Amino acid sequence: MTHPSDNDVLGEFLVSARSLAEYRAIFTLSDADLHGRILDCPGGAASFTAEANALGADVTAADPVYARPPDNLRDLAIAETDRGSHWATAHSARYRWDWYGSPQRHREIRHAAARRFGADLSAHPGRYVAAALPSLPFPDDSFDLALSSHLLFTYADRLDADFHLAALLELARVCAGEIRAYPLVDHLGNQHDDLVASLRKELEDKGIRTELRETGYEFHHGANTVLVLRP
Ligand SMILES: C[S@@+](CC[C@H](N)C(=O)[O-])C[C@H]1O[C@@H](n2cnc3c(N)ncnc32)[C@H](O)[C@@H]1O
Repeated sequence: MTHPSDNDVLGEFLVSARSLAEYRAIFTLSDADLHGRILDCPGGAASFTAEANALGADVTAADPVYARPPDNLRDLAIAETDRGSHWATAHSARYRWDWYGSPQRHREIRHAAARRFGADLSAHPGRYVAAALPSLPFPDDSFDLALSSHLLFTYADRLDADFHLAALLELARVCAGEIRAYPLVDHLGNQHDDLVASLRKELEDKGIRTELRETGYEFHHGANTVLVLRP
């Protein structure tokens, strides 16, 4: 019998659960980065918000999935972690496993993150705001740093260039400091250099400086670049 993940198309947006350690590696986060007001959008079931707030950071997560009842969301986080792990294992050749060590360790890290997210959702529901790009319910310049992991470019098969531009402009509106988006490949590992280049040009034309910054984290082969915006 085939599992849905054995196909070459990832179904619905995966509600994945990355940890603070993964966010630190992906976005090259320094301790200083964790001092300001931070937006994680999409937050998904990541434990970044829970873990960073526990260290004294001021992080808010935004994601449309937070409109679900908390019990349902906690269960979904675990089920989606299994779906993601199955997908990654079924397509293991697409990935570099050195950061994680093995598919098993990857699964353990994601499950721990999903559980931590679920506990934090109960303890601090106000940190999790139901909202969808490209329209966020935050005043201008509400944050000093915005992180966007695994929505833009990842789902370029269903989110078009106009959505990407509108989403990045919205992140730039609510964030006075850097916006960091990763990865710049889609969920099948395809590079989107033309989309990245055209978005950078349109952003620069609107006075938003952009930069491609290398990261030491690479899971999809070749996905070692972060798009950085500086409004
Ligand atoms: C692959 S997860 C990434 C979660 C988290 N950033 C991480 O790296 O683990 C993608 C998330 O994007 C969310 N999403 C889908 N459409 C969105 C939109 N228009 N605006 C913001 N988030 C969206 C989904 O609900 C899902 O939780």
